[in-house]
Amino acid sequence: MEKITIAIDGYSSTGKSTIAKQLAKALNYIYVDTGAMYRGVTLYAMRNGFISETSNDLEGLIAALDNIDLRFVYNETLGFAELFLNDENVEREIRTMEVSRLVSQVATVEEVREKLVAIQQRMGLEKGIVMDGRDIGTVVFPDAELKIFMTASPEKRATRRYKELLDKGEEVKYSEVLKNVEHRDYIDSHREISPLKKADDAIEFDNSDMGLEDQFSRVLDFANRVI
Ligand code: C5P
Repeated sequence: MEKITIAIDGYSSTGKSTIAKQLAKALNYIYVDTGAMYRGVTLYAMRNGFISETSNDLEGLIAALDNIDLRFVYNETLGFAELFLNDENVEREIRTMEVSRLVSQVATVEEVREKLVAIQQRMGLEKGIVMDGRDIGTVVFPDAELKIFMTASPEKRATRRYKELLDKGEEVKYSEVLKNVEHRDYIDSHREISPLKKADDAIEFDNSDMGLEDQFSRVLDFANRVI
C-alpha cells in the first residue's frame, strides 16, 4: 500500500499529539511531535541564558543554534519517541509551564524555524509519517495528502491541559493554564513567519464535544479515504 504524509495542525492543547500518535500506530507510520522540537530549543535557550521571563538574547540564541542537536529516540515501553537534546532525554523538562510560557517567543525566530523545518522535511522524505504542529500543512509539507486542522474552545483545551499537568505533579492554577493557551494561540497565529493558520485544503476538525474514541475513529476514517 502506498504510504502518505499526514499533517495535523491546530491550536495549543487541542489533543493533536494524542490523536496523531494513535493514528501513526494504527497505520504503522512514524509520528513526529514538532512542538517538542521548539520546546527543546527553548529549554536550551533557558539553560544557556538566552531567554527568561524578564529578558532575552535572541541574537545569542541564533549564534548558538549549531550547538543544538535534537533527536527522537523511540521508547518501546512508552510506545512513542522521546526528545533528546544534545544526548540528554529532556522529555519531561520540555513539558513544564516555564517552557510553555517562553516557547512561542522562540518559535517566532526565523533561523530557529529554518533549522527545525529542514529536519522535519528530512524526516518525512519517505512518507509514512504523521506530523503535528502549527505549520505542517502550510509550510513543512504543503503537498501532504491528508491535512487536518484541529480546533476546540479555549476553555476545553485549558481544562485538558490543566488535568495533564496536575497528573504530572505540576502545581498550576487553571486560570494560569487558560491564560497560557490563549497567549500562545495569539502569538502563534499573529507571528510574521509561518503563522498558525488552516491550509486551504485542510479538513477543519472541532473536537470540543468529542471523546477520544470518537475523534480517533473520525480521523482514521479521513485517512482511509485517502490511502
Ligand atoms: O505543540 P506544542 O503545544 O507543544 O507546541 C509548543 C509551541 O511550539 C507552540 O505554541 C508554537 O509556538 C511552537 N510551534 C510552532 N510550530 C510548530 C510546532 C510548535 O511554532 N510546528
